[in-house]
Amino acid sequence: MRVLVVGAGGQVGTALKDLGISLGHHIIALDRSELDITDGASVTTSLEHHEPDTVINAAAYTAVDRAEAESALAFSINADGAENIAKACKQLDIPFLHISTDFVFDGTKLGAYVEEDSVGPLSVYGNSKAEGEKRIQNLGGKNIILRTAWVFGGEQNFVATMQRLGESRDELNIVNDQTGGPTSNLEIANCLLAIAEKVQEEGFSDWGIYHFAGAPSVTWYEFACAIFAGRDKPVLHPIPTEKYPTPAVRPKNSVLDCSKIKDVFDIDQPDWRKALSAIIS
Ligand SMILES: NC(=O)c1ccc[n+]([C@@H]2O[C@H](COP(=O)([O-])OP(=O)(O)OC[C@H]3O[C@@H](n4cnc5c(N)ncnc54)[C@H](OP(=O)(O)O)[C@@H]3O)[C@@H](O)[C@H]2O)c1
Repeated sequence: MRVLVVGAGGQVGTALKDLGISLGHHIIALDRSELDITDGASVTTSLEHHEPDTVINAAAYTAVDRAEAESALAFSINADGAENIAKACKQLDIPFLHISTDFVFDGTKLGAYVEEDSVGPLSVYGNSKAEGEKRIQNLGGKNIILRTAWVFGGEQNFVATMQRLGESRDELNIVNDQTGGPTSNLEIANCLLAIAEKVQEEGFSDWGIYHFAGAPSVTWYEFACAIFAGRDKPVLHPIPTEKYPTPAVRPKNSVLDCSKIKDVFDIDQPDWRKALSAIIS
């Protein structure tokens, strides 16, 4: 399978490239310097040139707090950029797999979010990702939008930050009233490549939005406890969000119900503890 990965230098993009190659796929991995998704003409030219079976968009503006002051940039990448790829894919009749986020929800639901729940983003980042989803869906075409959450496994994420802080600090205050599903970048890559294969099948028609996140759901504090399990230090203190103010507001509950992806693609929710222990060891 020829898979073109856009945003190949990022956390999920790198995993897609490495895993895809190891599974024997022909991966065309383009980082930002090779393809800027805000340049619509270049996106079309690149797709025409590489003739992939599927395009996966792992490119995004992901600086959640900085986005509050860089709204135009976040929207140009997460909305215009996503739309550019969807347009080119539609024009060339290529299946398009796009990644979105739990931050499109407002976090007030009691229970896990299903794909049909209304979005209500609380931040510029969440708004820009929700706009990207809307633009892709409005175009129609062969699109899958995979909403995931709390990604770890690369160089910049909660696990990496905790590991770095754990080297220098004896005590850490961690937010204990935001709940979500930590998800390994490799598991997301594995999921997307499995979907990429399924959509090649004759007559496939289950396009649309899917949720995919790790289990069990935890708070950031509980996740940190798992990261430092078996260590005396740092000592962890659970705190409410109010005690750790950030420029962007985050949903209190961003648990994603992942039964649709199981029903349609037979993809299970991964247990994040396995991926975490591999990283820690
Ligand atoms: N990280 C999370 O916790 C999380 C949670 C839920 C959903 N997601 C979603 O998962 C997807 C992958 O996230 P990630 O964690 O892998 O993010 P990441 O590590 O920040 O990677 C994003 C990549 O996109 C690239 N990029 C930015 N603007 C671009 C442009 N105009 N053209 C081409 N490439 C561009 C970045 O390049 P530069 O580094 O050069 O800017 C970076 O390599 C995103 O859609 C994100 O919204 C992430």
